[in-house]
Amino acid sequence: MKIIIYLAASANGKISNNRNEPDWLSPEFSQGFADISQRTQAVIMGKTTYNFLSPDYLPLKEGGSLVVLTHDTKATPSQSNVLFTSDSPEKIIAQLAAKGHTEAVIIGGTQTVNTFVKAGLVNELILVIEPVLFGKGLPLIDELDLEYKLLLSDVKKLNNNTVQLHYKIKD
Ligand SMILES: NC(=O)c1ccc[n+]([C@@H]2O[C@H](COP(=O)([O-])OP(=O)(O)OC[C@H]3O[C@@H](n4cnc5c(N)ncnc54)[C@H](OP(=O)(O)O)[C@@H]3O)[C@@H](O)[C@H]2O)c1
Repeated sequence: MKIIIYLAASANGKISNNRNEPDWLSPEFSQGFADISQRTQAVIMGKTTYNFLSPDYLPLKEGGSLVVLTHDTKATPSQSNVLFTSDSPEKIIAQLAAKGHTEAVIIGGTQTVNTFVKAGLVNELILVIEPVLFGKGLPLIDELDLEYKLLLSDVKKLNNNTVQLHYKIKD
């Protein structure tokens, strides 16, 4: 099972600003978000990100698996393909594999990325670098005591100002 992180970041590595408005994201990022969600049919996110996207902007309208990390597993999801879970990353991946998924994409936010990276379960990182600097905001990864080497597998210029970096995470 391949686990991929797909995120937009500022040029200084923040994934959100203090205003918490997505007005800095390019249409190319949004298209990539839709494309990778459709391809994998398995999307993992934290409850804060879910609250932000639900109900109108969730990536899969029907079918597939939308896994949302939360301690409030009794909450009512906004659509039938949403699963609220507090299971471990290992168990979540095993459950997705048992459903026949061969890859899954993690779409944020920081806490959720932390959880999976810390568990050593992420294989690839796709970063869309938008042309902004945020003095304050959430980092891609919090202050975790970890260090991973990356291999750059692809670079794409998505528009005049936005690049996409595709990394593989070395074992
Ligand atoms: N730039 C991008 O591409 C991008 C993409 C997505 C999001 N974002 C930004 O990221 C921000 C949200 O990030 P975030 O770090 O605050 O939140 P998050 O990861 O989206 O969600 C955090 C919540 O998820 C639940 N959670 C996380 N880890 C868990 C675990 N191991 N077990 C059980 N529940 C767990 C908890 O929910 P409960 O409190 O319900 O237990 C926690 O409060 C937003 O500002 C959003 O705009 C940016």
